[in-house]
Amino acid sequence: MTTVNLKINDQQVSASAGMTVLQAARLAEIDIPTLCDHPALTPIGACRMCLVEIKGQRALQPACTFPISEGMEVQTESPKVTEARRFILHLLFSERNHYCMYCEMTGDCELQALGYRYGIDHWVYPTYTKRFPVDATRQYFIMDHNRCILCRRCIRACSELAANHTLGMRQRGADSMIHADMDVPFGDSSCVSCGTCLQVCPTGALVDKRSAFMGRDVETEHVKSVCSQCSLGCGTEVIVRAGSVLRIEGDWDAPVNAGVVCQAGRFDPLYEERQRLTTPMVRKNGKLSEVGWDQALVAAAERIGDDGKKLGVLTTSNATNEALYLLAKLFSQELNATNVGLLNDVAPKLSEKDTPPADISASDVILVVGADPVNDQPVASFFVKRALDRGARLIVVDAEGNGLAPLASLQLNMADIRKAVDIAKRADSPAVLYGAGVTGKAGKALKELEGKALFVALQPGVNTRAAAALGLNNGFDPSAAQTLFVLAGEQEWNGKGVLDRMVKNAFLVVQSSYESPLTERADIVLPMAIWSERAGSLTNTSGLVQMANAAVEPKGQAKPDWEILSLLAGKMGKGLATSLDDISALAADQLR
Ligand code: SF4
Ligand code: SF4
Ligand code: SF4
Ligand code: FES
Repeated sequence: MTTVNLKINDQQVSASAGMTVLQAARLAEIDIPTLCDHPALTPIGACRMCLVEIKGQRALQPACTFPISEGMEVQTESPKVTEARRFILHLLFSERNHYCMYCEMTGDCELQALGYRYGIDHWVYPTYTKRFPVDATRQYFIMDHNRCILCRRCIRACSELAANHTLGMRQRGADSMIHADMDVPFGDSSCVSCGTCLQVCPTGALVDKRSAFMGRDVETEHVKSVCSQCSLGCGTEVIVRAGSVLRIEGDWDAPVNAGVVCQAGRFDPLYEERQRLTTPMVRKNGKLSEVGWDQALVAAAERIGDDGKKLGVLTTSNATNEALYLLAKLFSQELNATNVGLLNDVAPKLSEKDTPPADISASDVILVVGADPVNDQPVASFFVKRALDRGARLIVVDAEGNGLAPLASLQLNMADIRKAVDIAKRADSPAVLYGAGVTGKAGKALKELEGKALFVALQPGVNTRAAAALGLNNGFDPSAAQTLFVLAGEQEWNGKGVLDRMVKNAFLVVQSSYESPLTERADIVLPMAIWSERAGSLTNTSGLVQMANAAVEPKGQAKPDWEILSLLAGKMGKGLATSLDDISALAADQLR
């Protein structure tokens, strides 16, 4: 790439050709204030906060859109520049209601910070008295048009990142307003509640309902973690204050999702209403009674015993690599149990090379086969929609009820897979997104595209890839076990398949975070920490292993999934590894 040499504030800077002045300045750690610019979005030069003086240019130029050139000389804080910025800030503060002390974003607002930086301590123009509406019709966040500076970050985030195209602008000039679809209330719009617009808004115009007024950013801790709501493993930042999770944001640095998350990742975990389990319990005289960990684990170890043939083991895929490793090691390897199953299906392996879902954006034909990313791996559906925006053609096979079907140029039955494969063969850069719904015959046909197409496996569940690699999807028959160990974890599941089929007097040990019909029937209940309370690694659908950090302490006496199994192994005299680091290393070894 050609290097361009320029001077910014008399400092020599070398940057790549094609960069903007703002990008070159950031490279040299020179701060240029911005409002409409966001590193994840296409610059549009709307707010003019980033104006700089460029030698030879008659007018000040927006650094966020102006390209660098050899020998360019830029001044970012000259008197002319700061005067222009003050003028723009005065206009912005006068245009709508920016009485910061009453705003949820006070202290964290980018406009307010620039007001302080440039000494905006009074209004020089009449303040705008018109009241704009506040739209609170969306479940998770509010749009207060009175705080909006019309930077259009939200519009670009919705169209470029979520590829949902819900947002637009209506009216003109000072009356301009962000609107949804054909100007319907946001709650009635095509919005999929991914919250990407909320995350990029620089002011208090978009306000998260749950964390509003719960603390300024300086009072919080940002813990990098990994979403465990589906198998994509999107990177997140968990925002914590005083031991409570305030909100979840997408991690801009995350390799899987580059900042974008979906409703399930951002909002749903914070609206959980199920009853937590916080104390170990053992059934005594027909009734579950609270006991200490030692008593519960000793009782479980005694009942599980040493004979794997009498055992049935069932696990959710929503567990860490470490827990799944210990489960496989303890039951399959140490006790030779074979009645071992996984709560969800597993997508077959159709290709030697796993492609991360984000890499399909340049594909010209996309086949979606036996998978429903809109409902099951929503961020993957954003990647599909981004490719469609670039002109890709979408073919959905097994389309009935599929969330992507309305966007498909062709919908086919699984029996017509040949037709889809033939179209992909004629494409320049096809991609196949497939899930557990792929039939054997369809899988065989799709394999003909090996070497030509990108293959993206979309595993159902969460850590399904690791569970399958560890042999935990062997096949589970509750009626064939005298003792059952169920790692239910956080899975939303009523346990019906087990409860209906298990032997009447079978002994049931359940490791779970929440109460359910299964834990009500259990003989021993082992309370498990939830996603925000446990550290551990997760293997995503394309094989990427990522460490999810604990953000808060476990509730009550609940313990991380892997720790419970490690302690149980100890009580069973199996002496498996006990520290997270050691178990992680062993799990990584097995999963390699
Ligand atoms: S929440 Fe997501 S889909 Fe809805 S308007 Fe914002 S960016 Fe668009
Ligand atoms: S809602 Fe926020 S992001 Fe959207 S235009 Fe207004 S200030 Fe900008
Ligand atoms: S796509 Fe999956 S991993 Fe990503 S945020 Fe949504 S639920 Fe979480
Ligand atoms: S940040 Fe450059 S014009 Fe808004």
